[in-house]
Amino acid sequence: MIAINESRLKDPKVEYVRADIFRWSPPGTYDFVFFGFWLSHVPRGRFEPFWSLVRRALRPSGRAFFVDSLAAPAGTAPGQQIECDGIVERSLNDGRVFRIVKVFYETRQLAARLRKLGWTAQVHRTPNFFIYGSAAPFEVPPDWPLRT
Ligand SMILES: C[S@@+](CC[C@H](N)C(=O)[O-])C[C@H]1O[C@@H](n2cnc3c(N)ncnc32)[C@H](O)[C@@H]1O
Repeated sequence: MIAINESRLKDPKVEYVRADIFRWSPPGTYDFVFFGFWLSHVPRGRFEPFWSLVRRALRPSGRAFFVDSLAAPAGTAPGQQIECDGIVERSLNDGRVFRIVKVFYETRQLAARLRKLGWTAQVHRTPNFFIYGSAAPFEVPPDWPLRT
């Protein structure tokens, strides 16, 4: 995916890093951190360390935004069965079957969990497919960056 993206974008400003995110430390701090269809693959026991990593990657006024799949048949990949809480069995077109981490979140439950970790979070959902939200560490004014 990195190679495909690099060949399409051809932008020297983009730095690609191939790493295990659970063993990686951000080399700097950033205004914005985005993750798409990733949070649901963070094992339950790694939720707090992951958000702590996001916190370390943000500048004091920084903010994170995420989008992921809803716990609804239309919002997830076909050919997967929820095996137990946080694990699904996913069948590929070639017949192979994998057990993968897939943790589904409800909007209010996720926002409350983030608040407990020191984030101001707004989490929403679309009618059928997606859950999305933004989060900023408590010290950031909640209307940032709208304040002038
Ligand atoms: C569901 S995909 C989402 C990819 C991309 N954000 C998108 O929307 O197309 C999850 C991605 O996380 C990557 N991934 C899984 N475990 C990882 C880890 N420990 N460190 C870094 N990346 C990981 C997978 O290789 C996969 O590319």
